[in-house]
Parts: sequence; structure tokens; C-alpha cells
Amino acid sequence: MGKFYDSVPVSAIVRIRDMMYTVKDPFRLDQGDVSFDAPDTFKAAVAQAMKDNRTHYLPTSGIPQLRKAVAEKMRKKNGIPIGSDDEVLITNGGTHGLYAVMHALLEPGDEMIVPGPEWPPTMAICQAAQGVPVQVPLREELGWRWNIDEVEQAITPKTRVLYLNSPNNPTGGILTRADIERLAAIAKERNLWVISDEAYEDLLFTGEHVSIASLPGMYERTIPVYTMSKSYAITGVRVGYFAIRDKALLARALKIVLYTTSNVSSIAQYGAVGALEGSQDCITEFRDELKARRDLFYKGLEEAAPGVFSGTPPDGAFYAFVKINAAWARDAGIVGESLSWAMADHLIKHARIGCVPGVDFSADCEGYMRFCTGRSREELTGALASMKATFAATARTA
Ligand SMILES: Cc1ncc(COP(=O)(O)O)c(C=O)c1O
Repeated sequence: MGKFYDSVPVSAIVRIRDMMYTVKDPFRLDQGDVSFDAPDTFKAAVAQAMKDNRTHYLPTSGIPQLRKAVAEKMRKKNGIPIGSDDEVLITNGGTHGLYAVMHALLEPGDEMIVPGPEWPPTMAICQAAQGVPVQVPLREELGWRWNIDEVEQAITPKTRVLYLNSPNNPTGGILTRADIERLAAIAKERNLWVISDEAYEDLLFTGEHVSIASLPGMYERTIPVYTMSKSYAITGVRVGYFAIRDKALLARALKIVLYTTSNVSSIAQYGAVGALEGSQDCITEFRDELKARRDLFYKGLEEAAPGVFSGTPPDGAFYAFVKINAAWARDAGIVGESLSWAMADHLIKHARIGCVPGVDFSADCEGYMRFCTGRSREELTGALASMKATFAATARTA
């Protein structure tokens, strides 16, 4: 098992994050982190927990107040029929939740259907759990949604799990209610588990977010996985959660949480209770601002990189997933074995802009780039100016 981990890939997002620490005055459009400050409700609850000396070991499953708050949130906001609060486990962010869930569910060689493109740790964690991620392409012409016939065709006798991520990272693509209903019917018919990663549930600029576990008879076979990272701008704090109805699976997942963390940080958990029980205004404020930033970035790209990148502004999440004009890149001398890596290298070295090559999200997305548009307007504007100057110079010297 030790050596086996050598074959588990490291996401380019992590490699680029390390590269960015060596860049002076960088524009951090690489990682999926919003620039907002955490809400005061969260900060006050953390301060109070400190004052009350809440610094000791806790139950592995999470503090009862937080389990109760998230169970209530999943019932009311997501429409999921959570029975007892005991069905909920608190995790060290969404990444840890996915780790526990995939390790609890997958047997060696089990296939998991995943969107292509998808946030790379999803595939890596699946591989770490000795599963096999099978990417089914999201179609750009469908607004980066699946053609669900293609999902059906990808199911084999080894398929165990259908992994959903709507809104999707990196494309912002959103599955419609009709899509989700059809996927639910397929999961039932083919006896599949569903892992529903709803990290961006609060970041839809139009339309509705549908939790598949809210559909009749679906919670029994669905594990909804959430994180507080994006909705409350606390990516570094590390609080996430999931719910499982099946008792044996829940006990197994609890054991994985136990031996990977013992308990999630006490201070973080008390802070999370404050964030969930306090005003939820920050969620709408963040969403409105993220929409404005999305528009600023796409408009800015037209001026900074005319004809270089193309794509439609997404209706969800906070990324620009754009196609590189390969002919322009070739003429500008931005070439290499991988076009998207050559472009990322160029932008990091010459424009100090962190960005992630599309190929990291799926082999099919070679030739695309991801920029995080959740950064401050100042940082986005600075990045666009730097891109404009760099591309103008690139074109002159080419
Ligand atoms: C699709 C998706 N799922 C889960 C996560 C996990 O988030 P975290 O571990 O920060 O809570 C992320 C983070 O970028 C994500 O994009």
C-alpha cells in the first residue's frame, strides 16, 4: 500500500500553488479561493470558543451542536430527509469528506463515473481508494452538462458509483432538475451509489440547485458531501460534512475519519456553528459580488487577450474555463508537448498569473485553461493588465 501511493497523481493545482510561492507579486488566479473575509458570525464564535478554552479532544463524529446545525440545514435548504443527526459526520473540509466516503464505498477495481473535466483530487482520491475514475465528457455546447445517454453508455458491470458535481469545477456547468431526475432513475435502475459533491451549492447565478438526495428514494443510495470553504470564505479553516443513511457504511466512514484526524479542530467546529446559526447574508453578498467579478474578468479578457481565449461566462462557481486559440499560441511561440501547460508556464513566468492547465481536469480538456475569478476586483484587474502587456510583448517578439 505504501508504494501504491506513488501512483496516485498530484494535482497541477498543488504543483502550481507551490510554484506561485516563488513568484514575486503574483496574481493568484490558480487556486479556487475567494478573497472575501470570513463573516463576523464565524469569527465571533471562534473567539468565544477560545475564551471558553474549547481546546480539548472531541467526538470523532463532530460536536453535537454542529451535527444538529448541518442536519437541519440539509433538511431545510437541501430538502434531504435526514433522519437522526447521527447520520451526519463532520470532516476536515470537503476533501476529507470525499476521502472518507470513497474509501468507505469503493472496493479495488470499482468504477466511478466522474464528469470530464472535474476537480483533479476527485479522480486522485478515487485512485487512492483503489477505484477507477471513468470520466464522461461534459459537453460545452450543452452549457458544460452531460449528454446523459453518454453516462448510460459508460456504465459497466464494474460501475459502483456515480459522482455528481453541480455546479462543476472547473466549468461552472449546472445539471438541471430534469438531468438530475434522469440520473436518479439510472442510479436506481442500475443499482448505483451516488456521491453528490455540492461544494458550490450557493454559487449559482441563475437557476436552482437541486440536491439529488432530495428526490424520492434517493437519499438511501446517495451520500451528499458539503464544505463550508466556499460559501463562508473559510477555505483554510477546514470544515465539511456529509450524511449517510446506511448504518454499516456510516460506521466504516466514521472509522476512516477517526484514523485520519481523530477529530476536526474544536475551534473550527465552534466557529462553523456560529456561521450556520447566524445571518446568512454573506452568502448572497458573496454570490452577487462573484457574478460581478465573473463579468469583469470575461470583459477584460476581450481586451487583454483578443482572440486568444474563448468561452461563455458560466452560470455557477467562480472559474473561467476558456479555450486557447491554438493557432495564435503557435504563432506566438507558446508551444510544448501540452498546449495548456505551455500557456500556464508562459503566464506564470512572464505575467505572474497563476492559472491551471485544462489537461489536469481531463485529457479531453487539453487546450483549455482555468482562471479563478473569485479574487478581488483589484487582483483581477491587475492580472488582466499584466496579461495584456505580456501578450502584446509576446506577439511583438514572435
Ligand atoms: C468540486 C470540489 N469539491 C470539493 C472541494 C473541497 O473543498 P475543501 O476541501 O476546501 O473544503 C473543492 C475545492 O476546491 C472542489 O472544487
